[in-house]
Formats: sequence, structure tokens, C-alpha cells
Amino acid sequence: MAYQLKNNQWFLKTKSVDLPLEEVVASRNRAFYLYDLQDALTRADQFLASGFAPHYAMKANSHPRLLRELGSKGFGIDVVSLGELQKALACGVSPSKIIFSGIAKDREELEAALHHKIFQINVESFEELKHLEQICSEKNVTADVALRLNIHLSAPTHAHVQTTTPDSKFGIDVKQIPEVVSWVKGKKNLRVKGIATHIGSQITDLSVFADMARAMGDLYKNLDLPLERLDLGGGLGIDYKTQGEEDSGMAERYLKTLKESHGTNAKILVEPGRFLVARMGVLLAKVIYVKKTTTQNFVILNAGMNCLMRPALYQAFHRIIPLHARPGKEKYTVVGPICESTDKFAVDREMSVVERGDWVAIYDAGAYGATMSNTYNESPLPEQWSYLDGVWEVS
Ligand code: LLP
Repeated sequence: MAYQLKNNQWFLKTKSVDLPLEEVVASRNRAFYLYDLQDALTRADQFLASGFAPHYAMKANSHPRLLRELGSKGFGIDVVSLGELQKALACGVSPSKIIFSGIAKDREELEAALHHKIFQINVESFEELKHLEQICSEKNVTADVALRLNIHLSAPTHAHVQTTTPDSKFGIDVKQIPEVVSWVKGKKNLRVKGIATHIGSQITDLSVFADMARAMGDLYKNLDLPLERLDLGGGLGIDYKTQGEEDSGMAERYLKTLKESHGTNAKILVEPGRFLVARMGVLLAKVIYVKKTTTQNFVILNAGMNCLMRPALYQAFHRIIPLHARPGKEKYTVVGPICESTDKFAVDREMSVVERGDWVAIYDAGAYGATMSNTYNESPLPEQWSYLDGVWEVS
């Protein structure tokens, strides 16, 4: 998201207009998300230009307008529940562009995937594969599947968002492959079109993506199945401490790394989530009190872990910037209203001085912000406002 400070005021810079954020918040009372959709769509173009088949992991942000815009560009979508599948379809995404991942797909979800003839079901266990085969033979239909594999690779990222450690619940253990392959070979209701993996999230070390693509390429070439697709998952991270000037180069290097490492002639699928949408979003929150104690200088906001869980769950860093730049600096511990001590966005963070009634922007909150928000303490869910080409839309 492009912001600019002019005359002590922050502006959202868009193609057509510079929006003064203080005016955007002036008539509001509750915290809300603001999305600059153009930012996500420009990133999407970079993935589309790669020649891969990108499928956006909509768990990162499922704002309907974003899904509609991505769908109309020809982006695919990666869903992980019936709710996500239905939302993607309602937003006009073609079933032929939908991948269904997730470890707990039940009968209703598998039947919906078959009914809509989606592009690919990523099967995450031998048990799920047998269940799917049973449903397919009952209905006398054939499913296009990819085997999602746990390739036992520990990505350098927060432990909570690693997905291919040997003890992970995700994917088919790489050691079970021979058994699974020999079972699936004779099954006429299952077409194993590809193999898939997803090594985790918020990964910025590209060498680990190279290791992953090489390992998946080797498996692809050695499995005794007529495969044609290689799904390399998502996981590309951003540097939350910067404004993102480096992002476009990062995406380019990431895509090049995958391209140079898999060594197959497969159709390559990728499932980016965070990288497309994190930067497009800010969470705008109002300062209810500035509370000074004998040890702390608290800024108490009307948004907390109910709106954005990432700091509480993963000790994640998000930049916080007051919309009205007052003279002077102070160190603040920035907290929300929720009755939990972990409801904290920052500790002893140096910021320009804020006063009661001011608004702050919590940056890079477009990914895993609104989708993980909740109603703890009977809090209302934050509204999500998107801006694109002069038009606002709320969800
Ligand atoms: N594909 C699959 C199968 C996934 O499970 C995920 C994310 C993605 C793709 C997209 O990954 P990304 O490109 O966004 O890293 N709530 C955490 C992130 C959880 C990611 C879950 N899976 C956070 O706020 O950091």
C-alpha cells in the first residue's frame, strides 16, 4: 500500500487520487480495515506473468471484491473448507480454477468438490484418499487429485506456521508414498494428476524454496504415476519492518528460484496468500486512552486481538503509525481492549506522540487479519473497506 506523509497528514496514494486518511476516519468510531486493492492486483499480475498457474490461498483475505477481481484476471483459488468453496463460487470463480486443500475434508465437502467438478482436490492422508475413492465409486464419478506430501523439510519460520516438519498434521508422510501409490494405481475413480506440498508461511529465505522445488521435482520424476502437475504451495513472506520497496524483486527472485529448481516438464501451480495481500491492508484504530502507570505508557486502542491476532499468536511485528503526526516522540506499549494480557500490538515502541481520540494505522494487516478476526468479548467484527479505481466497497 502506498502511503505518503504530507503536511503532517498521511495520504493513501492511489493511481487516481491521494486520499487523506484522517478524512477517511473522520466520520467513524469503530476500528476497521482499509484495503488498497490495486496493490494486491499489481502483485497478482507478477504471478500471472510467471507462466505458472497461481491459485490464491483465500484464507489470507476473503474480501469478496478481491476474489471477484482475481477471478476475472484468471487467477485460481485455493480453498480449505466448504465455506471458502461456496464463497469463491459466489464471487464468480470458475470451478475449473479451484484447488481444495485441507486435512479434514468430510463427506459433504468432498461431495461438493465432485459436484462442482473442481480442478483439483489436494488429498492430505491415505485415509482421505480411501474415503474419496469410496464416494467416487458410489456416485460413479472420477476425481482429479493431487497428493499433498509432507516432505519433512523444516522451513526457517515461526514454529506455528511450519507445515512440513515430520510431526506435522498436514500432508501424506513422504515415507508412506510407496504404499499409497501402489494402492491408488488400480483405482479407476481417482486420477492422480499431480503432487503438492506447502512448506509453511512467512518464509523469506529463498534457498529453502529451491530445496523444496528440487525435492518435489525428484519425487515427480520418480513416482510411477502419469503425473502432469506439480503444486509447490505458497509461503513467500514479506519484511514487516519495511514499507515493501523490495517486494517486487523478491517475487521475481522467488518465481525464478522455483523455475530453475524443479527440473520437470510439469505444469507448475503455486498458492500464494500473504504476499499478495498483506501490504494492501491497514487496520485503522482509534486511541481510547493514553494511560500512564508507574512503569508503562499505554496506548489503548479500540482494536485488539479480536481484530488482528497475529501479534498475540505469533509475536508478530506490525508497524504502527499515528495518522496525525504530532511533534515529539514517545515510547508506548500499544494494547487493545480485550480482557487478555496477550492483547498487545507492541511493547515500548517509539512513535510520534499520540493523544486520546487520535487514530493509528497498523500496517501490513491485509493478510490473516480480518479472516482470523473473532467476536471474543462480544466484540463486533471489523468492517473491511476496499478502494479501487475511485470506488469504495464494504464487507
Ligand atoms: N497453501 C496452503 C495449503 C496453505 O495452508 C497456505 C497457508 C497457503 C497456501 C498460503 O500461504 P502464504 O503464501 O500465505 O504463506 N495465520 C498465519 C499464516 C497461516 C498460513 C496457513 N496456510 C499468519 O498470520 O502468519
